[in-house]
Parts: sequence; C-alpha cells; structure tokens
Amino acid sequence: MEQQIKDLRLRAGEEIRSSATLKELDDVRVKFLGKKGELTGLLRGMSQLTPEERPIVGKLVNEAREEIEQLITQKNSELKAAELQAKLASERIDVTLPGRRVHDGHLHPLTLTLNRVKKIFVSMGYSVEEGPEVETDYYNFEALNLPKDHPARDMQDSFYITEEILLRTQTSPVQARTMERHKDNEPIRMIAPGRVYRRDDYDASHSPMFTQVEGLVIDKGISFADLKGTLEDFSKKIFGERTKIRLRPSFFPFTEPSAEVDVSCVMCHGAGCKVCQGTGWLEILGAGMVHPDVLKMSGYDPDEVSGFAFGMGIERIAMLTYGLDDMRLLYDNDVRFLKQF
Ligand code: DAH
Repeated sequence: MEQQIKDLRLRAGEEIRSSATLKELDDVRVKFLGKKGELTGLLRGMSQLTPEERPIVGKLVNEAREEIEQLITQKNSELKAAELQAKLASERIDVTLPGRRVHDGHLHPLTLTLNRVKKIFVSMGYSVEEGPEVETDYYNFEALNLPKDHPARDMQDSFYITEEILLRTQTSPVQARTMERHKDNEPIRMIAPGRVYRRDDYDASHSPMFTQVEGLVIDKGISFADLKGTLEDFSKKIFGERTKIRLRPSFFPFTEPSAEVDVSCVMCHGAGCKVCQGTGWLEILGAGMVHPDVLKMSGYDPDEVSGFAFGMGIERIAMLTYGLDDMRLLYDNDVRFLKQF
C-alpha cells in the first residue's frame, strides 16, 4: 500500500506539471482527488487493513492529498498568469499610433458673408424678411413699376415657368410682399436675403443663380440723406472704417431718383489697382428713393410717407472681402478652396 501511495504521488506530480491548460489541470484533479478518484479509492481500501496499519496509511494518504492539492494550487496560478499574459499580448493596442483626424465642417464663405451683412442690418433695427424663389410676374416686375412691355425687363433675362410665373430675377419683389402685409402707412425697416435667377452665362463674374440682399425703409420724412448715411455706415462696417462711398446717378423703374453705389477699392483704398481697374472705386449695389407709384401699388400713401431701397449682390461682397478673382469658386464645392474659410 505504501508503494502504491508513493507511486500515485509521483504520477500525480508529473501529470500536474505537464498540464498545459486549466481544463487539463482540472481533469487531473478529478482523476486523483475526485469522489471516484484514485486517492479516494485508496482510502476505501483501508477497511482491509489491520488496526495498527490504519493510522500509518491514513497519515500517508493525507500527506499525499495535501501535496497534490498544493501542487494543483501552484500550477493553477501559473496557468492563470500565463493565460493573462497571452490575452494581454493578443489584445495589445499601440496608444502611440496617430489617431484618425476628424475634420470639423464649417459654414460656406457665402453664408458667412450673408450672416455678416444680416448682422449689420439687424443691429440697425432691420427685420429679416423672406419671399418665394418661384415668383409671380406681378411681384417680380409689375408691382415694381415694370409693366409687361417695359424695356428694363430685358436686363434680367429670365427663367419663365408659365407666362405669369418665373424664378425671381431679384429680391425686390419682397418689398411689395412686405408692404402688403402692413397697414396704415406703418413704418418698415427690412432686409430680404435670398437666391435670384437670371438666364446668364456661367463665367468668372456671372452665374445663372446668385444671392442678393434687398433693403427697404419706409417712414415719415425718410430722405436721400438717410439712404446715403445708412449705406456709408454699412460699407464701413463690412469693408473697414477707411471705406468711402460715392453715388452715381442711375435708373431703376422702382426708385426715383436712383443711384449706383461705389465703395473705395478694398485693395488700393482709392489709388487705383487691378481689382478696381485703375478707378479706385468698386460698384457694390443699386439704390434709390422708392418710386411713389411703387408705394401706392402696395397700399402706402406717398403723400404721407417716403422710403429708400437698395439691392446688393452677396457674391460680389464675398469676392471683395476674401479677395477672390472668380465667382465660380463659390459654387464649385472644391474642398481645397472651402477649407480656407
Ligand atoms: N433689383 C435690382 C437688381 O437686381 C437691385 C436694386 C436696385 C434693388 C435698386 C433696389 C434698388 O431695391 O432700389 O439689379
């Protein structure tokens, strides 16, 4: 019996040592120490021993159990440590690798320019109005003093949908729409930003679609001086304090008198350069005193109130403030260009 126990200890030790996984080790444990295991079998066989032999063998069996249990515990922690190491090695990440950069989007230069223009007028107490891009002939032309046969329509080659409906050629129709919403010669101070459409060619300074901001002020006693002061203030705010303006006589059917407004060149400040073609001035908008007939058509009494109006192209202003030489850059959606703003 003693030899048997010695034998068992040796075999158990070997099998424990050669276990490569926790599962294998557990199988070894069951094989030797389990309910039907070898050591338990030996204990059962003790009934055949003499009373003198029993305590001696019993002691040997207990020693064997303790030794095997200890070996298993030791091997168990070895295997667990090895398993952890393997897991760490296989799941290793290199925290020093450069990350994948997330590019933030931002507003388009046209939107940025439009927002600046809006902010300036809102700070002067103007409201921001909207009108439809698909407009009636009445609002786009007739309510602005351009009857069906008016020659000034020719300057705005148009996209007609039917005889009476077209893509608006200007934001000026929002003047009439806004006046109609008011009663009793109520004062108005508004701008109307938006897209307009003309059957123009697509070149460095033209596009069949572009952006305008319309302005309209109506109140008692509004004069040409108010128009000039407002546009001078606006020009200084958008192009810088050094900016000067000049007004040249012009013609628009919906204003009388009418003017083209120039600002001193943003590049050379009046000295003359390529951008202003040597003149020192850049044309930025059309303006004038609202024609009495235009007031009348939309329900205002020209004997009681007067007003001024203006209309500017936002692409032009974006090109001047950002120094762009081709309007198409604003529409091509080339990320290399857009990233710069
Ligand atoms: N609507 C004109 C255009 O598209 C611009 C304009 C000129 C608007 C004079 C006005 C104005 O309100 O008074 O060419």
